[in-house]
Amino acid sequence: MLLAQLLRRNGIDSIVLEQRTREYVEARIRAGLLEQGTVDLLIEAGVGVRLQHEGLKHDGFEVAFSGRTHRIDLKGLTGSCVTIYGQTEIQKDLDEAVLAGGGDIRYGAADVAVEGLSERRSRVSFTLEGRRQQVECDFIAGCDGFHGVCRPSVPADTIRTYERVYPFGWLGILADVPPVSDELVYANHARGFALCSMRSRTRSRYYVQCPVNDSVADWPDERFWGELRQRLPPSRADRLVVGPSIEKSIAPLRSFVAEPMRFGNLFLVGDAAHIVPPTGAKGLNLAAADVRILYQALVDFYRSGSDAALDQYSPLALERVWKATRFSWWFTTLMHRFSDDPFAHKLQLAELHYLSQSHPAAQSLAENYVGLGFRMPA
Ligand code: DHB
Repeated sequence: MLLAQLLRRNGIDSIVLEQRTREYVEARIRAGLLEQGTVDLLIEAGVGVRLQHEGLKHDGFEVAFSGRTHRIDLKGLTGSCVTIYGQTEIQKDLDEAVLAGGGDIRYGAADVAVEGLSERRSRVSFTLEGRRQQVECDFIAGCDGFHGVCRPSVPADTIRTYERVYPFGWLGILADVPPVSDELVYANHARGFALCSMRSRTRSRYYVQCPVNDSVADWPDERFWGELRQRLPPSRADRLVVGPSIEKSIAPLRSFVAEPMRFGNLFLVGDAAHIVPPTGAKGLNLAAADVRILYQALVDFYRSGSDAALDQYSPLALERVWKATRFSWWFTTLMHRFSDDPFAHKLQLAELHYLSQSHPAAQSLAENYVGLGFRMPA
């Protein structure tokens, strides 16, 4: 939707094929932490008004370990900050803007298939309201997620994938209770990781690391709150306000990268090409970063007729993807309990202690957390 909106504002038509309904995508709870680069891109797309009004700017966050907290001063260390604004809200703002501008969104498109990726014009087929349809196009943006059809549609011998699966999941809940702190709290604890995030000053988003095969039925609210409280340092646990959950879900953790991100006229974007574990909230931001590179390359193509910028999409996107993959893996490894191995836990505590004492170490964390810069086509 972000790509469609940016293209439309630059005079380039697109059709968005969405498998689900508008109601479904606008209600699906996802991430909520935006890098400044993502905020800037949303403003550029003309959907920054509510975001700038309602988004919460965070100049820092807390890392908790050994019963205490240490603040990472994002503003002081990098000059930048992050913004809390739910992906559901971005989705609503984009749906409204694209539709208001006369954009073409086909909700409920099933059995999508892509063909002719290396021909001059490519084709996308789909079933809508019981009728099989086909559109012809110059380019296909595969923004269809990890389980989508675009990535499996390329010849197997032209793609290479890299993967790491983590031996745990995140159980997340949303509740209309005030957050434990004005800023986010990432907690390393012998019982497992915990994260205190938020969506507003009255709505909290909390997570605890859990066994990957657990189901939400294993986690009634009382068990969740009890577990979260135990994993927080006393100064934060004392401020924990509990209440009924309004959403609860378990997500597995995975790192995954597919290379390249372009196959003829098909460009893979976001989760279709890469997955990061959620620690540090890079997933949505990486997808937006891909969109920024791709939309500018498409604008350049239609203005100049040269595909030099399109040729740079995959290498430039992957350069940034791998840095975010490294950061998300590192932050996940630092904060979670992987095994009973006391040596591993001691190393985590030593690194956390080092982070709390070393300005360069804290600066490296902060620089990655607020988001790395962009190298655009020459
Ligand atoms: C959120 C998720 C994250 O993975 C993170 O690092 C920070 C915030 C969130 O959902 O609010």
